[in-house]
Amino acid sequence: MIVGILGVGHLATSMLAGFLRSGLDPTAIVLSPRGKAAALCARHGFRLATDNRDLVERSDVVIVAVRPAHAPDAVAGLPWRKDQVVVSVCAGVPLSRFAVAPARAVRAMPFTASEICASPTIYFPDIEQAQAVLDRLGPSIALASETDFEVATVNAAVYGWVQDLIRKTAEWSSTQGLDPAIGRRLTALTFVAAGRLIEEKDQPMDQMLEELVTPGGITERGLQVLSARGVPAAWEEACTAVLDKLMGPD
Ligand SMILES: NC(=O)c1ccc[n+]([C@@H]2O[C@H](COP(=O)([O-])OP(=O)(O)OC[C@H]3O[C@@H](n4cnc5c(N)ncnc54)[C@H](OP(=O)(O)O)[C@@H]3O)[C@@H](O)[C@H]2O)c1
Repeated sequence: MIVGILGVGHLATSMLAGFLRSGLDPTAIVLSPRGKAAALCARHGFRLATDNRDLVERSDVVIVAVRPAHAPDAVAGLPWRKDQVVVSVCAGVPLSRFAVAPARAVRAMPFTASEICASPTIYFPDIEQAQAVLDRLGPSIALASETDFEVATVNAAVYGWVQDLIRKTAEWSSTQGLDPAIGRRLTALTFVAAGRLIEEKDQPMDQMLEELVTPGGITERGLQVLSARGVPAAWEEACTAVLDKLMGPD
C-alpha cells in the first residue's frame, strides 16, 4: 500500500516519524512537494511527488494535512479513484467539504505523539485501509458518527492543555528547588500513570477517586483550592468553547 501525504508541515512530520518507527518502508510513502517535504525525502528516503496530481495518482491512501482553511481547495480537481481512501486530519472541516469522489473520505485526529507511536487517534467512518495506516501511530478509535467525531476532537485541545499543566507543575517544583530534569520526568510520568490506570481498569472513575482522596489528606486539600478557584467549571467551559469553534463557521 502506498501512502501519500498532501501537506507536509508540523503534524505530517510527527506522523512520518511514527510511520518510520512502526517499520513502514520509506519508499512506500509519497510526499507533496511543499513545506518540509524535500528535506524529509532527502533525509529518510520518502518519495517526492512532482505535484498534488502526481501524488494522488501514485497513492492508495492519501493523508490530507494542510491547514483547515486550505483543505477544500487543496483536494478539489485531483484525479481521485474509487479504490482510494482519503484521510483528512484537518480539524473542524466536515466530510461534506471534501470533494474527493469517487474516493472515500475519512476524518482522523492524530496527536503529535504519533511521533512515538502513542497517539490515540479517533477516526470516522470506519474504513479498513484508514485503520491500517492509523494503527501504526498508536491505538486507533473508530467513532460511530461525525458528530461524535467532533465532540471527541476536543481531546486534541485537551492534549495541549495537559502538556501545559505538566510544564507548569514541573516549573513550580523547580522554583521550590527540585532538579528541573527530575521535576519534568516525574510530572510527565504522573500524568501517564493517572491516564493508564483509568484506561486499564473498568472500575467507575468516581469510585477510583473516592479511594484515592483520603479525607483531610493532600489530594483533598488541593482539590478544595482548585474548586474554590472555579477550575472544574473553567475546564468544562474551555471544552465547550473548543467544540463551538469546531462546529462553527470557518
Ligand atoms: N499541529 C498539530 O499538532 C495538529 C494536530 C491534529 C491535527 N492537526 C491538523 O493538521 C493540519 C496541519 O496542521 P500543521 O500544524 O501541520 O500545519 P502546517 O505546519 O502549517 O502544515 C501545513 C502544510 O501544508 C502545506 N500546504 C498548504 N496547502 C498545500 C497544498 N495545496 N498542497 C501541498 N501542500 C500544501 C503547507 O505548505 P507551505 O509551507 O508551502 O504553505 C504546510 O507545509 C491542520 O488542518 C490541523 O488542523 C494538527
